[in-house]
Amino acid sequence: MRTLTVNVARVDCVCQLWIGHKLIQRLPELLNRAAYTKVAIVADRGAEVWARRVAEAVKVENSLVMLFEGGERAKSVEGLDAVWRFLADIELDRKSLVLSVGGGATSDLVGFAAATYMRGIACIHIPTTLLAHVDASVGGKSGINYNGIKNLIGSIAQPAGVVIDVDTLSTLPKREIRSGFAEIVKHGLIQDASYFEHVTRKECTDWASEDLVQIIHRSCEIKRDVVQADETEQGLRKTLNFGHTIGHAIEGQALTCGISITHGEAVAIGMAGESYLSYRGGRISRSELETVVSGITQAGLPVKLPVALPVTALRSTLAHDKKNVGGAVKWTLLDRIGQAAFDISVSEDLILDSLNEIQPG
Ligand code: GLY
Repeated sequence: MRTLTVNVARVDCVCQLWIGHKLIQRLPELLNRAAYTKVAIVADRGAEVWARRVAEAVKVENSLVMLFEGGERAKSVEGLDAVWRFLADIELDRKSLVLSVGGGATSDLVGFAAATYMRGIACIHIPTTLLAHVDASVGGKSGINYNGIKNLIGSIAQPAGVVIDVDTLSTLPKREIRSGFAEIVKHGLIQDASYFEHVTRKECTDWASEDLVQIIHRSCEIKRDVVQADETEQGLRKTLNFGHTIGHAIEGQALTCGISITHGEAVAIGMAGESYLSYRGGRISRSELETVVSGITQAGLPVKLPVALPVTALRSTLAHDKKNVGGAVKWTLLDRIGQAAFDISVSEDLILDSLNEIQPG
């Protein structure tokens, strides 16, 4: 088992990360059960098999387990209300613990419910997707979608812990492994060139489980370091948005057009588009751009849209990105492989060129 600690500036705010195999069955030894008056589980129904194992390991009775229909749609006012109601109905108090079990949407929703219930009670995430292992469950971001905008309402509150049991990936479809791997590739691109080289050596679904533990550990370490340096995203944390400006526009348009595209696929294409923007803006060379594109491709991730999406529609979705300040799109771009810069303004022509660049060949 590998461990990491996230120490942010706020007092009493230490988040322990455990990464390894068979950790759900080791929960009794990892959690300080005696420190909590009550333990409840809130889980995505799609992760029910893992939630039941957690309940068994920690001896949580059925009445303290809530299962909800997970996914992005659950991140709504109604979804949040249902979790708050459950926490209130089972009379959790300030010294209670919530265990969230599921993917990124689950840690977002349950993390926010726990962060706001009684002004904040302890929450430990037990993520069951690769995306949640390396991104969503680490760093304390939580929230819901509102008014058609992703994560418009939310908070940054560090969980008390994150238990990353790599065995949860055994039930995950390959497409979901790919989706999570896009964030891993991103970690290399923004922080560590040799890690980028390593994780793009082969198709991402071909890694052995032991190698994945190391990869997840390194990705969590990179994210941990960024979050420790800038928990509230005033600067460095913005680099974690690399690929996400175009990526979110793709996700928004794909939803409108009824096209199935995962978050990771959108981010992978977004990283290709934003690397192109970095090249056209004179920040990286043509050969660096080619290395990025061939690395993403070698990992089995897309660099072009599966079907054409209108550039004008993508452009107008960019205008609604909540990372914008004063109406201007602020970009995270590469200065080289392994180093990103944030808050970059880009000319309109280059933005349109990059949106054309990601259209199908
Ligand atoms: N997912 C990006 C962040 O946590 O900042």
